[in-house]
Amino acid sequence: MTMIDLAVTGGTVVTGAGEKSADILIHDEKIVAIVPPGEHHNAAKVIDAAGKIVLPGGIDVHTHFLVGFMSCRSVYDMFSGSVAALRGGTTTVIDFALQRKGRSLMDGLRHRRTQADPFVAVDYGLHIVVTDVNDKTLAEIPAVIAAGVTSFKAYMTYEKEGLMLNDGALLALLKAAGREGLLVGVHAENDKIIVYETAHHLAKGDISPRFHAVTRPPIAEAEAIRRAVSLAEAAGAGIYIFHMAIGREVPNLRAARARGLPVFAETCPHYLVLDDTSYERADGQLYVMSPPLRTPDDQAHLWAGLADGTVVAVGSDDASFSAEAKTTDADSFATTVNGVHGVEFRLPLLYTFGVETGKLTLPQLVKVWSENPAKLFGLAPQKGSIAPGGDADLVIIDPARTTRLTTKSHFGPLGYNIYDGMEVRGVPVCTIRRGTVVVENDEFLGAAGEGRFVKRKLPEFALS
Ligand code: URP
Ligand code: ZN
Repeated sequence: MTMIDLAVTGGTVVTGAGEKSADILIHDEKIVAIVPPGEHHNAAKVIDAAGKIVLPGGIDVHTHFLVGFMSCRSVYDMFSGSVAALRGGTTTVIDFALQRKGRSLMDGLRHRRTQADPFVAVDYGLHIVVTDVNDKTLAEIPAVIAAGVTSFKAYMTYEKEGLMLNDGALLALLKAAGREGLLVGVHAENDKIIVYETAHHLAKGDISPRFHAVTRPPIAEAEAIRRAVSLAEAAGAGIYIFHMAIGREVPNLRAARARGLPVFAETCPHYLVLDDTSYERADGQLYVMSPPLRTPDDQAHLWAGLADGTVVAVGSDDASFSAEAKTTDADSFATTVNGVHGVEFRLPLLYTFGVETGKLTLPQLVKVWSENPAKLFGLAPQKGSIAPGGDADLVIIDPARTTRLTTKSHFGPLGYNIYDGMEVRGVPVCTIRRGTVVVENDEFLGAAGEGRFVKRKLPEFALS
């Protein structure tokens, strides 16, 4: 009989294809079999998951650990970000390596790996943020693929911060990526509109957090998304819209997909459960992220897009600036550092506000939580689902357990929680990374450096 290190028994096992009661048998980091409950095995260790739901470990393709932005530094470094991810049931993240202007893509990648490899506790991949497109950069693409990176990120805004690619550079990048089959993700906001509106409102003394949303109006995001889709179509490339807030654009993306274009959108938990009334709060600065929070109508479109597969993933966009960083020295909305935490709460928010309200089925949750991102970002079939031969990355939730989120719910000294006061279900009771229990009842049991860099394959554009 095959040796079994760990059996997870009696739970409701969910994949994108459906749910069933089953035992999951694990050996040497891999799932070796999924058998009817109660079938005989000689597992060295058994986790009884009766009454619980067993999902694939989460894949969060949008984290910013150990990041500096707008003169602030994230609370999470590679280790603490990993712990937060694992506590939230996410076993793989894709973070970012920055190409510095005048430097190569591979320099950026090597540098980020030296920052990450000794410290990560979660498995991880990297997108390269391209800031300098030229013939030399584009000639590096085969080496980048060989090094296990198959996606880029391009900023359509943040010119002042030195991150933006102009349309010519973006088109050149898209063409090169399209030829090699890579995916280009974009932060889609129209920089010119934002710069104009910001100057206009600051001159009038409009400095409160509310003006963060006013100066980044719906058209600033919608126009950039449409432009990105047009450029990608012309270039013959696949495109991924990071952190889509403007749900009103989902019908356009749905139409683009119906025309056969490889156009994929991600949204984030905050856009699904919070709206722009948060900017009216006394602590509205804590809700400053870009794009800004929008309206309940946008939320409804985003949920519908998740259900029908137009919005293919929920990434956290975790940028863990502390309450202090977001409020001290910020003269106005314009100097408040952009970005909020979130890596730890993707699952309870999707479960509570998606599944429990009937907006998503459990298999639909699994698709946007792990399966689609795994396929789209070249991690499948090693990761993303629950199947024999795949990595034994699992998360167990207890649907009967309610948790009240507070400013102390998450890992690390953030000093605030944008979900403070919400009652949720779906907080993981156990996270298993490649067959090892790394979180049990909120306690982290792993160690720095146990996570692995995952070399990714080319994206699969045909998502089922
Ligand atoms: O406000 C945000 N989203 N901050 C993180 C950096 C980015 O824009 O991706
Ligand atoms: Zn962004």
